[in-house]
Formats: sequence, structure tokens, C-alpha cells
Amino acid sequence: MKFFLDSADINEIKKTLDYGVLDGVTTNPSLIREAFEKEKSKGKNINFDSYIGDILKLCKGKPVSLEVISRDYKNMVREGETLYKKFNKIAKNVFVKVPVNPCLDLKCSSNMDGIKVIKKLSDKKIPVNCTLIFTPEQALLAAKAGARFVSPFVGRIDDYLRETAHMKFEKRDYFPEEGWKNGKKTLEDNGIVSGVMLIKEISEIFKKQKVQSEILAASIRNTRQIREVALAGADIATIPFNVFDKIASHLKTAEGMKKFTKDIVPEYARMLGTKIEK
Ligand code: E4P
Repeated sequence: MKFFLDSADINEIKKTLDYGVLDGVTTNPSLIREAFEKEKSKGKNINFDSYIGDILKLCKGKPVSLEVISRDYKNMVREGETLYKKFNKIAKNVFVKVPVNPCLDLKCSSNMDGIKVIKKLSDKKIPVNCTLIFTPEQALLAAKAGARFVSPFVGRIDDYLRETAHMKFEKRDYFPEEGWKNGKKTLEDNGIVSGVMLIKEISEIFKKQKVQSEILAASIRNTRQIREVALAGADIATIPFNVFDKIASHLKTAEGMKKFTKDIVPEYARMLGTKIEK
């Protein structure tokens, strides 16, 4: 499974690249806003084009998703083409992120503009990451329209299930793959009982139907979800910096390090030219 960073913060991107295990970056308008507000709070002036350009240069060879912001077919196509034309020449790594359904009306269920945009951009060989996926059907449709990545939102479906049951929770709280029982009934959204199950179903369908699009598990909230989406068949997980930074941690790892460090004999340290601080 590939590890992407879910961030538009250039310092977080630099730090994660330095780990040597980063495969790509995803942004969205909220992440860009967050990163810009942080920079502005330090008194810095931001030039949008050069900020994004710097991210793309840093990530050369790794896909970086940039999202369209309109909600109608014509303007989303225009924006997708603009993002690609303006920025892809910098490091040839731009993916245009398109919502599967751009409708803001919570009751709206029949807007196909996102799908049409994916088809149009894909036909023009512009790689698309289809975002805001909450059902396997949406993933299948986006893949059929040509999306290279489909992004199911693991954490947000878990949030939604808990919200519908008026549960109190922190976003980083663990949510079991097999779902949450509310009395005798398991919480579900049209058969989907958890974000991890959503990934699992999409993965099974893509295998059975021989779909080539990659499954990008988005909206990751804790390290355990990384393990579970990997098991469920995700090709990529896009991980926020605060979660990425916790992946290598375990209390027993630290305890083991403490003991090994304490036990180093001077001959061993001398041979390696190392001064040990115990
Ligand atoms: C990624 O591409 C998504 O936009 C992102 O993972 C959403 O995460 P959130 O639900 O934590 O905002």
C-alpha cells in the first residue's frame, strides 16, 4: 500500500518527504485554507502559484492532488484544465481532484456533473482523483468514467454513522470495522457499517469486475485504520501528518530501546566510535 500525506502544509510535506517513505500528497480546499492561515499567522505573504509550485517541485515523481472548486460541469472542466495546464509542467505530478457529485443540497441525488467532468478530463489524459466517495456504487461509477484514483472517506462515514445515532465521540476514536451496535441493531448507511467495510467492498468489487482504478483510502483518523484499510485492500492511504507521525510508536518499542541502550558494553560502543548517552 502506498502512503500519501493528506496536507497542504509545506513544512509537513518537507518533514514527511525526509522520512523517505512518502508516495504522494492529497490536498483539498480546507487543507489549503488551513496551511495558508498558518503561514499568514506568521506574517508571511503567500503567492498561491509559487506555494503550490514549490509543493509540486518537492514532490517530483509523486502524485499531488489539487481539487476543483466549482460545482457545475463547465467550470469544473475549466478549472481542472487550468490546474493541469498551469501546474503539471512544473513536475508532471498533478492529479485533478473532482467530487463524485458536486451538489450542495443534502437531498440532491441526481447530479452527474462530477461524473461528466471525470470522463471529460480523463479522455483528455488528465489524471483524476475522484473525491467524496461514500458508497461502492459511487466508486464504481467514478472508475467507469475514468478516475485513476477513487477516494472513499473512511473517517467521515464513521462520523456519519455515529452522528445519526447521536453518539458522543472524538474524531480520532476507534470505530470497529464490523460496525457499532445501537441496542440490537448495527448502525448502517445503506448496508455500509464502517469506513473500513466501505474500502473492503470497493476492493472486492474492483477485483471481481477487473477495475483498474486505485482505491485511495481518505479521511484517516488513527494508525489502526491504516492497518485495517491495508487489510481491506486499499492501494493507497492518505494520512494526516499527526497520524503519520505516530505510526512508528509503541510503548514496548521505547521500553526495548531503553533496555538495549542500558546494556551496551563499552567495547561495542568503542568499536563503532559511538558515545552512548544512557
Ligand atoms: C483527502 O483527500 C480528503 O480530502 C481528506 O482525507 C478528508 O479528510 P477529513 O475527513 O479528515 O477532513
